[in-house]
This record gives sequence, C-alpha cells and structure tokens, in this order.
Amino acid sequence: MDVNFKMDKPVERSLLDTTNQNIISRPLDRIEGPLKVSGRAKYSAEFKLPNMAHGVLVGAAIGKGRVKEIDVKSVEALPGVLMVVTDTEKFLRNPAQGMDTEAPKQGVTSIDYFGQPIALVVAETFEAARNAANALSVTYEDAEGRFDFDARIDTAKPKKDSEKNQGDVDDAMRSAHANVDAKWTTPSQSSAAMEPHASLAHWEGQKLVLYGSYQMLSSNRLQLADAMGLDPEDVRILAHYVGGGFGAKLGIGPESVAAAVAAKDLGRPVRVVMTRQQVFEATVRRSNTVQHLQLAADAEGRLTGVSHETITGNLEGEDFSEPASAATQFLYSGANRRFGNEIVLMDQVLAGSMRAPGEAVGMLALEGAMDELAELLDVDPVELRKRNIPERHPTSDLPFSSRSLAECLEIGARDFGWSKRKSAPASTLEGEWWIGHGMATAARSNMLIKSSARVTLQPDGRALVETDMTDIGTGTYTILAQIAAELLGLPIDAVDIHLGDTNFPPASGSGGSFGAASAGTSVYLACEKLRQTIAEKLGGEVEDLVLSDGMARMGNTSEPLSELIAEPLEATATVEPGETGKAFVQAGFGAHFAEVAVHAHTGEVRVRRMEGTFAAGRILNEKTAISQCFGGMVFGIGTALTEDMMHDHRYGHIVNRDLAEYHLPVNADVPQLKVKFLEERDHAANPLLAKGIGELGISGAGAAIANAIYNACGVRVRDYPITLDKLI
Ligand code: MOS
Repeated sequence: MDVNFKMDKPVERSLLDTTNQNIISRPLDRIEGPLKVSGRAKYSAEFKLPNMAHGVLVGAAIGKGRVKEIDVKSVEALPGVLMVVTDTEKFLRNPAQGMDTEAPKQGVTSIDYFGQPIALVVAETFEAARNAANALSVTYEDAEGRFDFDARIDTAKPKKDSEKNQGDVDDAMRSAHANVDAKWTTPSQSSAAMEPHASLAHWEGQKLVLYGSYQMLSSNRLQLADAMGLDPEDVRILAHYVGGGFGAKLGIGPESVAAAVAAKDLGRPVRVVMTRQQVFEATVRRSNTVQHLQLAADAEGRLTGVSHETITGNLEGEDFSEPASAATQFLYSGANRRFGNEIVLMDQVLAGSMRAPGEAVGMLALEGAMDELAELLDVDPVELRKRNIPERHPTSDLPFSSRSLAECLEIGARDFGWSKRKSAPASTLEGEWWIGHGMATAARSNMLIKSSARVTLQPDGRALVETDMTDIGTGTYTILAQIAAELLGLPIDAVDIHLGDTNFPPASGSGGSFGAASAGTSVYLACEKLRQTIAEKLGGEVEDLVLSDGMARMGNTSEPLSELIAEPLEATATVEPGETGKAFVQAGFGAHFAEVAVHAHTGEVRVRRMEGTFAAGRILNEKTAISQCFGGMVFGIGTALTEDMMHDHRYGHIVNRDLAEYHLPVNADVPQLKVKFLEERDHAANPLLAKGIGELGISGAGAAIANAIYNACGVRVRDYPITLDKLI
C-alpha cells in the first residue's frame, strides 16, 4: 500500500491530538541510548569486514599550486603497504554540499586548499598505512594563494540573485530618529562533530556498499554513484549511528570516494578513517563573515529601515554564501529593506552549511544591532523586539503559519527575572566581576522535505518502521517510535525502528532542522494508512477505531491486533512539500536570556545563567527536544566566546585543527541551562503540526551573551569571538 501526500493546504486536525496514548511528546529516554553508552552502537569506523585493508589519506602540504610528483617508491617497500592511490582523477576536489544530487568536480589536478587529499595509502593495518602516509614523498609546485580573508574584502563580488531591495534604506537612515550603522565580523568555523568522518567500502560484484558517517543518505547515495560512475541502484550506504554532523556530513566527504576507488582496485574492503586534523582540513567549514547592519527607527521605536549585507568567502567556482540575513528578512518590520551577499574568492576548504547556516551567525549581528538600537532609543530590548513584530512578512506580505514570539519574549523575560536587570552598563560589580544581563530573539526557518517510510504491522503485534533517515544524535529513533506507537496503540518497545540504510525508502535525512517533521510525517502517514486498513477489517469507519495497548476496538468489538492480522500489514508513505511551503512564512521562534560575569582585570567572561524559551509547534519528545536546544545554546556560547578557526595567512594551513586548539565550549564553560517550550500547533507545517528545533537553540544564543557582556562592562564587541583581549 502506497500513500503519497503533498502539503498543499493546512491540515485541519492531527491524529496525534485524538489518539490519547500519552506516548507522543513525552520526555522518553532515547531507545538506542543504552547501546550508545555501553559501546554497542556501531559507528562507521567500527565495522570490520573479512580481509579488510586500511587506507590513510594524504593531504596536500601546500595551500595553492600543484603536485609535481608523488614518489610511490618511497613507501612501497614499507611493511604492510598494499597500494598507493595516486591516480586521483576520481577523488573529490571538494567535499559535497548538502543537497547536491551530483558529486562535486572530480580529479585533483591542482591544489586549491591546504590538506586537499592527494593520495590514499592502503596497507594491511591502520598503523602501517599511517606510517607510509607520513613517509610518502611528494614534490609540489607552489603558487600564490589567497589565504587572508580580511585583506581580500575589497575584492568581494555580488552573489548572483542575492540582492533584495525594498523602498530606500539610505533615506530611512537619514530621516531616522535613531539609527545603528555598523559592521560585525564572525570567524571561520568548523562543525567539529565528535565522530570523525569514516568510510568502509566494499564491492559486491558491480555494487558498492559503503558504511559511512553521513546525514542525508538518499542524496549521499546519488553523489557517490555520480562520483563512481554507477547507477544509484548499485550503491548502498549504511549509517545506523552518526556521532554528530552539524553540516559537515550533509554531503559526502573525500574519504568515501577514496575508499571506494581503493576497494575496487584492490578487490578488498577498504576502510578510511579521517584524522581529526583531516576533518578540519578537508570537510565543509563555515566561512568568516563581514556583516553590515543598518537599522533605522522612529521616535516610538518602530523600525523604518533594515539592511543586512554580508560578505563571505569560498573557493573559486562555488556560490554558497552564508545566508546571514535569512531571519532578518522576516523577523522585524520596517518598510525600507535591503539584503545582499558578496563572495570573496579564497583558497580554503569549501564553505558550506554548518549549524543553522544563516541564522547562527546572522543573528549575532542583527540581535547585537537591536540591542544597540534599544539603548539609543532608551527602550527596553524586549519591548523593542515586541514593538517590531510584523503582522505579516514585511516583503512578501505572506502570513506566518504560527509564531509565538511575543509569548516567548514575555514568558522568557518573566522566568529569567529580566525586570530586575539594570539597564545602564557597568552597574553591578561583585568582587572583581562585572555582572550583566542580555537577551536576543531566536528564529530559524522551518522546512518540509520529501521523505518516505515503510511501516509494517506484524502478526506478533509488533510494528517495524523502515526508512533511510538518519539519527545523528538528535533522537530520531525515539521520536519515530513514539509517532508509530501513538498511532498504532502499541507500547513503545513493540516498535522496531530501522534507519540509516539506503535499501529502505528514501527520507529527508538530517539537516536544516527538517528531519523530525519530514521523516516523522512519512511515518505518521503510513500509520494512518494502516489504521484505515484495520478499520476496514473490523468493518467500521476509521474515525471510530481505537487502537490501544495492542488492542483494536470498534464500537463494542475489541480484538488483539495480533489476532486481527494474519500476515504482515505494510504501508509505505511519502510526504512532499506543497503549497503551504509557499503560502506561509514558517519558522520556529524563541527568546534567549543570559547572565554573564566579566572579570574586571583579565576580561575573562563566564556565562553564569542561560535560559531559552521556544515555540516550535508540537514537541515530539520533550526530553530530546530540550537536549537539542541545550546543544544549540552550548554552540551559542562557542560562537560568542571561543570558536575561531584560524587559517595561516602565509601558507593557508589551519593553525588550530583539533579539539584542543579549536575551542568548543566544554563543561566548565557551560552553566546550568534552562529550556522551556511553549504549547503551539502549526497546521501549515505538516500533519504532526510540528516544526523543526535542531537549529533553533543556536540562533540568537550568542547575541544574548554579547549583549550581556556589554551590559556587564560597557564594552561593545562586534568582532566575534569575544575573547578577553577585546574586553581590556
Ligand atoms: Mo545542518 S548545517 O543542515 O546539518
């Protein structure tokens, strides 16, 4: 049984509101949690196959130029060495971008970034391969590289079709009662997922099977097929567990193709695990940004002009440019508006989507500018935001599908104790620490992506869900089980969830905060179909069917599901985005509040308290949802205070290419966080009435900290991260 559903008009009601099983939304523990904490959940690098060989990538030791010679003889005789792949015409020049259906350009003919993979050394053991990879002698021809982003800002060229103009911002700025006109900068960043990229490739005849650590298996399969010149039907990717992605695993990485090429040449399975350094050097990063914000307001604190122009860097031929004004375009009112992106060509690894591409760094600037405007106007920052919530989209005039922004601001402020804040900067000194409070709005676009799932009700009363959806640590296994259990009236442990295998129906994958709602809807639709079939079996209307505790009830009849079903009952459902995606502005919203302490002599910043209040439609599992927001807020601390991937300006290498030097917030940097969700239903989003939350928590979080720092000590830093040298 196949079901196809297009989200063309808002849904009137959701079955999840009528089933009353008390499973959906509950803060249940992750069903795969015990496997993970006991080390039994197998990640890509942990799979072993008989006769498996080990590959280690060799990265270019120059930042720009070409390889003159790779002296394979220098390592051939070393113990255990099986082969050196130097014929790299199949290698990816760049990692792939997220939703691409084709592989990036292939063939490493020139060196375009430091660490670009130029060879794969394959040996009997990992140690032997690593040893030989280190010993491999390569000669290069150096060329002049473009490594210093700041020095190249003047060479920026407009990104095609990125410019949007409405009214006259310059005029609005001139006639404003108060205005803000300033530039914010954010550094290059790395996704820094805990699990490094790893691929194990083996061939079954003409078919390629790859265990890989990826976020979006259905497009990854197309990319890998394209790279290898295969029919997608002949490529299978498995990713049962993924240790974080944050964008860097949206598209295939260099290790996948290298492993596949070597496995084919060698006729043996080949596993390639990237080192932490290689992950930094040769997987997608976030570009630095320079963001020019202009806000104009009248005497009542109503915005009359909003301009947000962004400069980012990328490799030649790439047009991805951090969409930093994504939320700025719909968040606040103002009749005159201007947005645009420009790109600077850099010889640095591909810049692409990373942790809320757009909002994560765009809102650092926008929400900082709003804080400055509030001060100029002498209006409370919460009030300024509330005053500028537009009725409809300020440009397209489309309605919002659901938006509890004002409620999040109010409730967030109340819970945090915002009214006790002293608005004058540097008002509170506790010992040697200046104490301050700041806030920012959270907003992140919501999307629905085509997604399929198969649900099978077994004669033994268990249900099986199969989809190539991934769980990248977000809780997919659990929420899909909750949706199926709720709709089929089964206990959660009677539902088996099989994910991460392209042999299953193709799903949205995990990215852009669209995974739960998209994959979840396909499971919902398949279960809905099964309910109809069961109702027919009982000779009644589906509206009268009650499924509960493994029993099917219709009027006075009640039968165990297991007796009702003689053979497996199966439904495959596909959801596709439709008209509601175009007819409504869809986004999750929230409010961040932060308390910081800034050391009066050293400038050290400690985040003391952080609270996030969010609304994102129905929350499918309160615990995993809160954890997602915790993660986002922790990354908010990172963007505000610590993360800064530094490229050497002379040679192009990344200076801090590991987790010791690239500073992600650790436990000591993170205070007790609080997250609260407000009740909301979004009928235009999907039949679950749920919106995405994965990236909502980071969007705006860092700005709340920056604003709190200003409130604490009176120093306004627009150059992220706010390290102590910038405060003293
Ligand atoms: Mo996300 S940057 O779409 O993993």
